[in-house]
Amino acid sequence: MNLKNYLTSRQKIIDRALDRYLPKENVRPATIHKAMRYSLFAGGKRLRPILTLAAAEACGGKIQNALPLACAMECIHTYSLVHDDLPSMDNDDFRRGRATCHKVFGDGIAILAGDALLTIAFEIVSRAKPPRRYDSFTLLREVAVAAGSRKLIAGQVADLEAEGKKVSVADLRYIHQNKTAAILTASVCLGAMSANATARELAAITKFGRALGLAFQVIDDILDVTQTSEKLGKSAGKDVAAQKATYPALIGLQKSRAEAKRLTKQAHDALKVFGKKGDTLRALANHLLEREY
Ligand code: IPE
Ligand code: IPE
Ligand code: MG
Ligand code: MG
Ligand code: MG
Repeated sequence: MNLKNYLTSRQKIIDRALDRYLPKENVRPATIHKAMRYSLFAGGKRLRPILTLAAAEACGGKIQNALPLACAMECIHTYSLVHDDLPSMDNDDFRRGRATCHKVFGDGIAILAGDALLTIAFEIVSRAKPPRRYDSFTLLREVAVAAGSRKLIAGQVADLEAEGKKVSVADLRYIHQNKTAAILTASVCLGAMSANATARELAAITKFGRALGLAFQVIDDILDVTQTSEKLGKSAGKDVAAQKATYPALIGLQKSRAEAKRLTKQAHDALKVFGKKGDTLRALANHLLEREY
């Protein structure tokens, strides 16, 4: 498989579906739909929805059934970035290669665009044809729990509260597991559910998502210190400046790299039950480990 072509073709499928699900720019009030689309179609890597589709296929499902769930997770992810960049949070003015939402539309509209992206995710999930084993309520609950105050929001709260403080490795793990790994895990689990996964398959995919999600944020921390803003499409070097709790800050770059590798291996191990059907997920895990942006 040529991974580069695979990623590009999946991004296209996802972008086309997102375009169908989102209100057009001229729908009243135009400002909010412009702002939502501005951040959503700014050139994100679409890793979460790509993982949703790949997890569905690993469980023998069709990507068409997973597509609404994949798009819903990208909407939630994008909302979390719009809010993460706000002056009262990470205060960033560069994201996905362009000015942040609040820089262009102002703080008020950026807050509302985030709210609207979060909300539309549930609308999109409600359109998915529920598989036999998992009804619509189960799918909606999976999204709600991952995005809620015990997962994504919990991580973001702990991230803000850790600024400028000395935290333990256990505290840092808590932050990363919640602010990042929870959404990645829900993304693959929803893919598996859309494919009517067995309990055993779903458990394996959950383990995979947790390890991969944690690895993903460790790499994000590493890239913040090793890459340029141009390459990342977002401002580099911000974590040190803001005294964020990160893996490189706590254990150094070399050990952080080793930790990301160890977690990726753990993600691979979780896929044993899938045999060859897990190959795409394995390739994606390696790609996330080796990514440069
Ligand atoms: C950035 O995520 C935020 C984190 C959770 C680390 P991505 O690196 O997937 O950002 P996009 O979607 O490609 O912009
Ligand atoms: C990502 O953490 C967490 C979420 C967006 C939920 P960061 O604050 O490190 O993400 P970037 O580096 O700004 O993309
Ligand atoms: Mg942040
Ligand atoms: Mg940030
Ligand atoms: Mg970061």
